[in-house]
Amino acid sequence: MTAQSRHPIAAEEAAYWSDIRKQFYLMDDVTYLQGGTVGPSARPVIERIIELMREFEADPLHRRHGDLLRPLVEQSREKLARFVGTTPDRIALVLNTTMGMNIPGQGLIWERGSDVLLSDQEYPAVRALWTWLAERDGLNLNYVPLPTPPSSPRDIVEAYEAGITDNTSVVVFSHVYFTTGLVAPIKELTRLAHAHGAVAMVDGAHAVGMVPLDLSDVGCDFYASSSHKWLLAPKGVGFLYMDAKYQNKVRPVVIGHNMRETDAASRYDVNGTRDLTPHACLGDAIDYQLDIGWESRIRPYCLGLARYLKAQALERIRGARLTIPMDESMSGFISSFSIEGIDLPKVCEYLWKDYKIEVTAIGANDLSFFRVSTHFYDSYEDIDRFISAINEIIAKQPDVHLD
Ligand SMILES: Cc1ncc(COP(=O)(O)O)c(C=O)c1O
Repeated sequence: MTAQSRHPIAAEEAAYWSDIRKQFYLMDDVTYLQGGTVGPSARPVIERIIELMREFEADPLHRRHGDLLRPLVEQSREKLARFVGTTPDRIALVLNTTMGMNIPGQGLIWERGSDVLLSDQEYPAVRALWTWLAERDGLNLNYVPLPTPPSSPRDIVEAYEAGITDNTSVVVFSHVYFTTGLVAPIKELTRLAHAHGAVAMVDGAHAVGMVPLDLSDVGCDFYASSSHKWLLAPKGVGFLYMDAKYQNKVRPVVIGHNMRETDAASRYDVNGTRDLTPHACLGDAIDYQLDIGWESRIRPYCLGLARYLKAQALERIRGARLTIPMDESMSGFISSFSIEGIDLPKVCEYLWKDYKIEVTAIGANDLSFFRVSTHFYDSYEDIDRFISAINEIIAKQPDVHLD
């Protein structure tokens, strides 16, 4: 059997995605399995930024707030709102998830002595925010252990149920866990938070562009995301969704012109004079994926890559164990697996040095595992190369074996 005949897609489709990859600046000899950390923007998006920057610089005074960039930023807000199932007045355009989580975290008044419920796998910057707030406001942090992997979405809800009480003022959870790639049932977790009178705050850093999202259906209070990950937007572009009832309640961390201008969530936009081109081109990044067909082509292709990767890891790597469910209601474009007795960070060093494969190893629950991000610029051959390289490294390099 040839490698290609193992791949569950037709040759024409493989050729289609291979042409798409050429629309990125990614180097030909690099296998990029790290889009979860930062996604590469496609050439048309970057070329548009450069074009806008040139136009702007020709007359910076008039083109700052005037007819060039502001309308494009508003178009981006509208396109993003449509993409995530809400209205533009609930979207603040911020720099990233870190900023998006800080706005309600620091801006709401939390009852002293109340509990903050979060899992043991929240992102370190988010944990840092709540550790700081707990000290400032006298809150108790209550971490629930996430099952790795859970056997059903119910297991995830039960983990939070075990930690929630009527003293919980906020539940902080991820839509897609940065550790294993686990996709959490955010509607059920929101319901659980609300049943206890707590605020539901979602870290959606990895979800937008990976998982279908209809915020009007989820009903959470806040949802923050970084568009420079799976949406492949320019860097320093993110958003905060806030339910309408909070739009005048959150104390602004940074106060500027937009405090006076509007009651909409845009009053929490990143503020003051700055380069507007990244936010102006967010809409182009969304259009780029919609034009290919995010729902009809990109998502099925990426789910296929993840499925293949998980199956190949189990079949071809001795001692491999998945830390993400096969079930696609709990997984997306991130796959993760451990290998018994192997030092995975060390393997990552060899993967980059000897094979130009970019991937990361992460730890949680006393386990170390590869976190592999596969987007539509990746191919089935990339996965074969990755699996073969791991086996070669394990066979050749004594220092990757733990004793
Ligand atoms: C789950 C999660 N939350 C928050 C962040 C922070 O994102 P940013 O650095 O874009 O603010 C990350 C970054 O990787 C993440 O994975």
